[in-house]
Amino acid sequence: MASITKSLMITDLVSSEKMEQLPSQYIRPLSQRPNLQDVSHDSIPLIDLHDLHGPNRSHVVHEIGRACSEYGFFQVKNHGVPDSTIANMMQIARDFFSLPEEERLKTYSDDPSKTTRLSTSFNIRTEKVASWRDYLRIHCYPVQDHINDWPTKPESFRDHVAEYCRSARGLSLQLIEAISESLGLEGDYISKQLGKHAQHMALNYYPPCPQPDLTYGLPGHKDLSLITVLLQDEVPGLQVLKNGKWVAVDPVPNTFIVNIADQMQVLSNDKYKSVLHRVVVNSQKERVSVPTFYCPSPDAVIGPAPALVTDEEPAVYRQFTYAEYYKKFWNIELANEDCLDAFKASASS
Ligand code: OGA
Ligand code: NI
Repeated sequence: MASITKSLMITDLVSSEKMEQLPSQYIRPLSQRPNLQDVSHDSIPLIDLHDLHGPNRSHVVHEIGRACSEYGFFQVKNHGVPDSTIANMMQIARDFFSLPEEERLKTYSDDPSKTTRLSTSFNIRTEKVASWRDYLRIHCYPVQDHINDWPTKPESFRDHVAEYCRSARGLSLQLIEAISESLGLEGDYISKQLGKHAQHMALNYYPPCPQPDLTYGLPGHKDLSLITVLLQDEVPGLQVLKNGKWVAVDPVPNTFIVNIADQMQVLSNDKYKSVLHRVVVNSQKERVSVPTFYCPSPDAVIGPAPALVTDEEPAVYRQFTYAEYYKKFWNIELANEDCLDAFKASASS
């Protein structure tokens, strides 16, 4: 009989047997389950970036600013990333997770400090309940510093992923400039706070799940980056917390989903909030998503922008290096702690 504990990855666990019940390590306590009937399908704003470089720029910047303060999440179209680049990225992600186990596991590690690693769930070193996700995490800027650590299979992995990363970076920089302006800062202010800049990416794979109402693909969390630019396939799963209620972000082909993450909350001195989001799974279809986490380089010193600190609105956070934040994030248990709390100005005095 196949022993379920032999598989490191869910991908191999589900392919090795016909599973009808969720293994116990994935089952959430009753009070923490997704409650799928109680999710709304209101949409998040969809912003057309076509006019970002024309005479109507200020209108688009204003819309972005409103989406950042009201939702912390929005979708973008006419973003300039070619359809073929997107299609190749999605195909390579699917092909990667279809590789034989021994090939895929070449980069396996549960050590979050590894810059290229295949893993499962969220952080198996700190969590008590596992999540129904396998993922490959890579660092991708500057590309030439990391590309030799990336998988060599499927054949075109490095070419397609490098091309995608360059496009995703271009889009991220445009968004960061617009967000900076929307805060009343110089367009290049935020970019200048990021040191040499960094870009990480995940290939997320959520296999079909035998009992999706008992578990998550990813439990509610905030991203530790500056902003996240997410590419998702046509299978729903992502949900965002808005006014205390979970809202499903149903896929719109060839759009990206952008969210404010922790470093933007700090730089904006709480004007823009890093938003809780989660992923639910389903029993029918696998789901693939590819988030780009745009972030500061480890040495960058992050803190509230002085222009956004006043007597009435004093600095909410102290200064810290991104390396310090990164380390803390991967050492907490996601479900119980908000990493931002450890960097409050009041916590250090
Ligand atoms: C993440 C994330 C969303 C998704 O990887 O941090 O929130 O749809 N992913 O997979
Ligand atoms: Ni996330």
